[in-house]
Amino acid sequence: MTTTQPTTTAGSPRPGPDAAARSVVHVGSDAAREWWRDAVIYQVYPRSFADGNGDGIGDLPGVTAHLDHLRRLGVDAIWLSPFYRSPQNDAGYDVADYRDVDPLFGTLADFDEMLAGAHERGMRVVVDLVPNHTSDQHEWFAAALAAAPGSPERARYLFRDGRGPGGDEPPNNWQSIFGGPAWTRVEDGQWYLHLFDSTQPDLDWTHPEVRAEFEAVLRFWLDRGVDGFRVDVAHGMVKADGLPDWDGHVEMVAGAGDATGDDAAPGAPEDGSTGAGNSGPMFDQDGVHEIYRDWHRVLAAYEGDRALVAEAWVEPLSRLARYVRPDEMHQAFNFSFLTTGWDAAALRRVIEASYRANDAVGAPTTWVLSNHDVVRHPSRLGLPDLGVRPNGLFATDPQPDEELGLRRARAATLLMLALPGSAYLYQGEELGLPEHTTLPAEVRQDPAFFRTEGAEAGRDGCRVPLPWTADAPGFGFGPTGATWLPQPESFARYAADVQDGVPGSTLELYRAALATRRTEELGHGGLAWLDVWADSPDVIAGRNRGVTVVANLGASPVALPDGAEVLLASGPLAADGTLPADTTVWLRA
Ligand code: NOJ
Ligand code: CA
Repeated sequence: MTTTQPTTTAGSPRPGPDAAARSVVHVGSDAAREWWRDAVIYQVYPRSFADGNGDGIGDLPGVTAHLDHLRRLGVDAIWLSPFYRSPQNDAGYDVADYRDVDPLFGTLADFDEMLAGAHERGMRVVVDLVPNHTSDQHEWFAAALAAAPGSPERARYLFRDGRGPGGDEPPNNWQSIFGGPAWTRVEDGQWYLHLFDSTQPDLDWTHPEVRAEFEAVLRFWLDRGVDGFRVDVAHGMVKADGLPDWDGHVEMVAGAGDATGDDAAPGAPEDGSTGAGNSGPMFDQDGVHEIYRDWHRVLAAYEGDRALVAEAWVEPLSRLARYVRPDEMHQAFNFSFLTTGWDAAALRRVIEASYRANDAVGAPTTWVLSNHDVVRHPSRLGLPDLGVRPNGLFATDPQPDEELGLRRARAATLLMLALPGSAYLYQGEELGLPEHTTLPAEVRQDPAFFRTEGAEAGRDGCRVPLPWTADAPGFGFGPTGATWLPQPESFARYAADVQDGVPGSTLELYRAALATRRTEELGHGGLAWLDVWADSPDVIAGRNRGVTVVANLGASPVALPDGAEVLLASGPLAADGTLPADTTVWLRA
């Protein structure tokens, strides 16, 4: 990441973008205008967004109470992580009843109120669908346990006899993504498959009743008025015939711990791969696409451009794009972008590969830097070893540099929001919120922490309740000050109320970026690289409609064109007008 050719300042010729050679990466279009093609979608993780009733757990009334925050932020849509009936062994990604709200989060009436409130404010609502597995508390699984091996009740899940003497060995050698074996034995000796926790049995998607049930669940929520679904583990529902042994290793963030960024950059493939793809006989089987063709037809029968977004950890991007072919899903999360290090060449490559793959199928490219499964990007980008992609952090791990991480995070976000397509934001990132990196073991709740016997910290650190008010108990998360995870003291600096209206705050940066993105229609624009800064390999510079974006990922400042009108900057420019390290600027092109 060293700048091989520092482009500074005094004496160096000042570039002018108009004279710049350009290479087109993506051609914009005004033709297709479905809302999801350029939407900025804000992820609400309900248990940590805002608590309405004071029990320390966020809920749907809490979301409704803060809808004006989201409207002012300027997002187009909200995606809510699961709020369905669930024993909460995986924070709601273990669903016991797909058609009801868990009392922890409220009622169906609370959901309807939240949905209406979002729609009144011009925001769409996407809900989470968890079709790969149910909770072990789902009525189907209870019936399967009560029934005999070989029964129709068991056929909806993946029950198998074990191997070896007495069937004492699991049916194959698969490991759970949360650690430990992917099989659990039941009393009569059979085993069932769970790619995640043992309380999350995998469904058998070759079973017609499973298919019919989920189409009915889609219709249940479409009839209530939702605008789309984020589909959990969209690449995992169909397994290879015969469930063959596999010696690979699966993880939540695939390739976690691999070197990326600096170390990997020189050899990083042109296809943008970063190691973010899950592979093996449990992932990305051709059969999944049939399901999405069926679902596409279900959604298409409703008015209003309802949309499906795939949570599919699949690489390369050209392979991921198969999920968003015209008759399948509408978007897929771009985890290759999320897992690319702070490296200009690697980012340029992944951006190019993203457009190449999605343009080939006519789908919008999506962008994402944070979610409820990964270390928040201000902390990730502040780690001393940028090559590491940890599954959470312990107090004993090397700690992120808070100031550096925030500076880079703001620069990364401003780069992301200049790119055509659709962007996902994770709650709290508009505050620049860091990961809680020192949570003690006794408060951790992620099953990944327990199933790895504490080897991995897990995801609790990015799920800490949001700070709304700096000087209120629990930073204003709810009326009592109770919070289901402890908040670090540093959250006082990030609370929404201390940033509101403060020039230069992260909250105001996000608001301004989203407003400009909207008025300039950047989501529908095109992208052309500018080679003005070609001598500075650590600079990413591109033109989208009326905006030039310049990101300086290097250590040295770089010159900006003379007289350039600065629309937005992720941090202060130097006194001589140059663009400092780890800073992104939007210029009037
Ligand atoms: C992906 C979700 O984002 C994650 O939080 C969950 O644990 C797994 N899928 C299992 O549902
Ligand atoms: Ca609550």
